[in-house]
Amino acid sequence: MKATAHAHPNIALIKYWGKRDQKLFLPHTPSLSMTLSSLTAVTTAEFSASLAADTVMLDGRPVEGAALERFSAHLDRIRALAGISLRARVVSANDFPTAAGLASSAAGGAALTAALCRAAGLDLSPHEMSALARRFSGSACRSVEGGFCQWNRGERTDGSDSFAVQVFPAGHWPELRMVVTVVSAAQKEVSSRAGMQHSVETSPFFEAWVRQVDADLAEALSALERRDLRALGSIAETNACRMHAVALGAHPPVLYMKPVTLDVISRVHALRAQGIEAWFTLDAGPNPVVLCLAADAPRVAAALEEIPGVQKTVTAGPGEGVTQSEKHLF
Ligand code: PMV
Repeated sequence: MKATAHAHPNIALIKYWGKRDQKLFLPHTPSLSMTLSSLTAVTTAEFSASLAADTVMLDGRPVEGAALERFSAHLDRIRALAGISLRARVVSANDFPTAAGLASSAAGGAALTAALCRAAGLDLSPHEMSALARRFSGSACRSVEGGFCQWNRGERTDGSDSFAVQVFPAGHWPELRMVVTVVSAAQKEVSSRAGMQHSVETSPFFEAWVRQVDADLAEALSALERRDLRALGSIAETNACRMHAVALGAHPPVLYMKPVTLDVISRVHALRAQGIEAWFTLDAGPNPVVLCLAADAPRVAAALEEIPGVQKTVTAGPGEGVTQSEKHLF
């Protein structure tokens, strides 16, 4: 009853921002993302009769308190589905900073769900696993499959129709790149969970956001289908700014950008003025992610790394969904 799974973060091209059901993690709007080919979360999980309680180690540190309860609640869902009551040991490691806007919860949540399901002997379809991963962290539902995934809002109150589906495989656009630009690896002050809920409750722009997302999504899907970087980049950049405008309209405002975030954004605009197709998106953190083509990625990365305050860049293409491994962490 031991299994190990690998998963990669996904970066949204059309953002998820706001839950209509906080318990089931049901979004107000659909979203669209690319699963990355690098940055990996690995999770080993084991159910065992010799354990008196669930234990979780994340990046070498024991998880305690409210964070451990969140893991245990997820374990309970899997135990209920599998009809078991055994406690579990979970060890998870990321090769990138946790909770700094690099979608660590997405990769971790997908790897955790896949490892737990296998360890518990559950054989779920990708869509069932996506709906389950959603309960740990909304965006995790989009890292179960690779390539380009759309998380459907769903209509049902039980959330059974709110999961991510692959709209294009990784091979649809192998030349597309995302240059993840790390300006801060520190844990952010306001989690995406708290920031989005606060936006739902206090931002007068939230209603406008909900009205807008379907049109943004249709534009992005059409650009993706045509492999039109200018069209995709333009709508991704606009949609990210719309999300941050919603957060900035909250009371008190939620500001995820740092001064160096704006320096990166200015450089992206300057690159475009020089004829290089580069477009940014930004999650709930200070680290921009820049879309470009593989042929331009080294030049884009070099230009961004020159900016004082940029710590490093990681370039990734479209990657695969969760995979199982026989190399366990314990
Ligand atoms: O699922 P969470 O709580 O990590 O929220 C993710 C929210 C954003 O990263 C800002 C947007 C997105 O769609 O990934």
